[in-house]
Amino acid sequence: MRTYNLAIVGATGVVGQEFIKILQQHRFPVGNLRLFASDRSAGRKLNFNGQEIVVEETTITSFKGADIVLFSAGTEVSTYFSPVAAKAGAVVIDNSAAWRMDETVPLVVPEVNPEDAFKHHGIIANPNCSTIQMVVALYPIHKVNTIKRVVVATYQAVSGTGTAAMEELAAQTRLVLEGRTVVPHVYPHQIAFNLLPEIDVFLDNGYSKEEWKMVEETRKIMHAPHLAISATCVRVPVYIGHSEAIHIELTNRLTADQARQILVAAPGVAVLDDPCVSLYPQPWVAAGQDEVFVGRIREDNSHAHGLVMWVVADNVRKGAALNAVQIAELLVERGAVGSQ
Ligand SMILES: NC(=O)c1ccc[n+]([C@@H]2O[C@H](COP(=O)([O-])OP(=O)(O)OC[C@H]3O[C@@H](n4cnc5c(N)ncnc54)[C@H](OP(=O)(O)O)[C@@H]3O)[C@@H](O)[C@H]2O)c1
Repeated sequence: MRTYNLAIVGATGVVGQEFIKILQQHRFPVGNLRLFASDRSAGRKLNFNGQEIVVEETTITSFKGADIVLFSAGTEVSTYFSPVAAKAGAVVIDNSAAWRMDETVPLVVPEVNPEDAFKHHGIIANPNCSTIQMVVALYPIHKVNTIKRVVVATYQAVSGTGTAAMEELAAQTRLVLEGRTVVPHVYPHQIAFNLLPEIDVFLDNGYSKEEWKMVEETRKIMHAPHLAISATCVRVPVYIGHSEAIHIELTNRLTADQARQILVAAPGVAVLDDPCVSLYPQPWVAAGQDEVFVGRIREDNSHAHGLVMWVVADNVRKGAALNAVQIAELLVERGAVGSQ
């Protein structure tokens, strides 16, 4: 069987660790795997398929012979090193925000716009976690009944910020329960037992950058440049799993049952929707799962063509590592990678 040489940049991080897990779970045809991080983690050993791999510092010579490089080490690292990896002949799949809105870089969710993946010039961008789960749920409906407007509120887990934020939530929770003072480090305020309507920096238009990413990225992925979208993104004291209350306005009326039928048949979606027995998606249940879970599907009583739903997914898996590995699998299936 044909194998592919892979490299992961940011291998020691939350997303990097999930990459390693998913490559094993999916039996991705890995030939050689190299793991990269900063000089802080160089020399650490990580396990892949029972084999210990030494983490190396990322340098401009790191990508020689790599077919696919998965980046999840932040925007600065991706901005600098992705073109270096692409120039060395690899296909880069980048998890950061560095290239997402670059017109020459495809922004891909395999359930929505798989064909875009093949239009790359060396770099393919993985969308923002909140955007990925939203478009997986929206697109099957949009295909049969054009969506005109989306209003979404997110409830985003701390794992979306990385390892340090997960540690901060644990430490703060302990301190609060012990009645001790909390000093925030990762977020501007305490996150334990709290909610923060601030994700990424604020823009001049009053939205946060995370909210604006949901607007721009959704339009690009769904090829819907005029889709009206307004988002409010909130960080919540949950470890894993982003939740979203999504209100959509359609061209024509769609009943809740019709929407349910469309979503049951949609790729990557699992419908959990029986309010009578309190069955609906929850982050605790979605953690570790691949699907985008949809429930609480109902017609919007305030709009003739409106629909409301509650959408939950594991932000580290479908929101990051899984989506990137699925893009790599697309390329492999079509023989569109690995000429080295
Ligand atoms: N977490 C999510 O749900 C999620 C979702 C979508 C996208 N992303 C994106 O994925 C990226 C990583 O997120 P994360 O949550 O995994 O963060 P994280 O847990 O903080 O891990 C960051 C990783 O980047 C590495 N790194 C930092 N500086 C580096 C440098 N100068 N050179 C090479 N490697 C460096 C770190 O290595 P050391 O161990 O050496 O520090 C670590 O492996 C970010 O761009 C983030 O926006 C995350």
